[in-house]
Amino acid sequence: MPLYHLTTFGCQMNAHDSERMRGLLSGLGYDEAPGRAVADLIVFNTCTIRGSADERFMGNLGEARRIKRERPDVVVAVGGCWAQSQKEDVFRDFPFVDIAFGPGEVNRLGELLARERIHTVGAFTFDGRFSGDLPSLRERPHQAWVQISVGCNCVCSYCIVPSVRGRESSRPWRAVVDEVGAQAADGVVEVTLLGQNVNSYGRDLPAGDRRTFAELLTAVAEVPGIERVRYTSPHPKDIRDDVIAVHRDMPEVCRHIHLPAQSGSTRVLKAMRRTYDRQRYLDLVGRIRAAVPDIALTTDLIVGFPGEGDADFADTVSLVREVGFDGAYTFVYSPRPGTEAGEHMDDDVPADVKSERISVLIDAVQATARERLARHVGTVQDVLVEGPSRTNPLRLTGRTTHNVTVNFTGDALGGAIVPVLIMASTSTTLAGSLARVPEPAGTT
Ligand code: SAH
Ligand code: SF4
Ligand code: F3S
Repeated sequence: MPLYHLTTFGCQMNAHDSERMRGLLSGLGYDEAPGRAVADLIVFNTCTIRGSADERFMGNLGEARRIKRERPDVVVAVGGCWAQSQKEDVFRDFPFVDIAFGPGEVNRLGELLARERIHTVGAFTFDGRFSGDLPSLRERPHQAWVQISVGCNCVCSYCIVPSVRGRESSRPWRAVVDEVGAQAADGVVEVTLLGQNVNSYGRDLPAGDRRTFAELLTAVAEVPGIERVRYTSPHPKDIRDDVIAVHRDMPEVCRHIHLPAQSGSTRVLKAMRRTYDRQRYLDLVGRIRAAVPDIALTTDLIVGFPGEGDADFADTVSLVREVGFDGAYTFVYSPRPGTEAGEHMDDDVPADVKSERISVLIDAVQATARERLARHVGTVQDVLVEGPSRTNPLRLTGRTTHNVTVNFTGDALGGAIVPVLIMASTSTTLAGSLARVPEPAGTT
């Protein structure tokens, strides 16, 4: 049996596309190799969101080049966003690469392999743009990703995603609900709906068959067997009250929203073309918290965007404190080719100022996150068990509805949702022990 080795970079969209690649390759008779050195097929699923993503990938690609030099019949395949950004230049600049395909062409991997004729492959034909329609090898038995849309119609001035993932296109809602139904039948209890801008879902669907994001969320939450529904990422401009109401009314829809703010400065938000200002973001947070007081909010923040002054940065730090995020991903601005900011704005915040700002911001995020997570100590939380903890196999790990990881003692099966008494917290995790639930009265 030929062996493949797959390395994934980037976001959940890529992680999910990789599950599809595994599904496809397994259907073509490939087995997973324990390491690159013994693989017949080396696949990379790449990301190009920041310069650092490109650099990390280059290091890995260098190893593939060395392997190919020693074993020339190894096939090297490069997929994902970086591949898309390079187009035909891949083969010119990296002649040892045999196959390149963009994030919208996961389905072509089989066909391209067939064309390489290195390995015999079966007849595979797929149509449609959604890798979500392909067979999949899930990473986890009880949790699944579900693609609801591809691409992005936003024009955030720093972002390369629209140019590599294309225009937004929604997957028909029936295909989404059917996939979730099949996953539930296969033991899945938690699904995460995926898209670059999930809550603009459906606007491009034909009128008679259109569903809003709130309607889709409800339909997915109603699938028998599905106990938890998450999604990522929404754009703050598109969160409407109907989505907030679903969080309030449907217990399956988790008490967590990842709500990328990017900056707390209205001036910078405008230059980023985010289409909301600081006040509108805060108003949205207020409406969400009024409807679902205990909800966890996390975010993405960028420091060092062109023209970001001390006062703008101070606005970002104060936004973190004012909202009280449960967590945040923080990034240093990286100019990307082909983007409005990358091409037309001066990357004028000096490197030392950027690194000073990111460390101040990380401290602020850690402080609010620590405070937020501490509120769970002394409570009993429902935890979806994922399995033994990686750092301590004698403990179990899982997550709360707030998407916080809990490490705990006790005995429980993966996929079960169990009550855990929370006894300690940090800025990112909780610790506790399985709570003994009293037997209901009258049972023998
Ligand atoms: N579609 C998602 C996220 C896309 S990328 C969304 O809008 O929420 C994930 C995060 O990377 C973004 O939220 C942003 O914070 C960060 N990012 C994107 N482009 C960047 C750049 N050029 N430099 C630094 N960070 C960037
Ligand atoms: Fe990029 Fe903005 Fe689209 Fe997110 S919403 S993928 S940040 S362009
Ligand atoms: Fe990276 Fe593409 Fe995701 S650029 S962050 S893998 S959409």
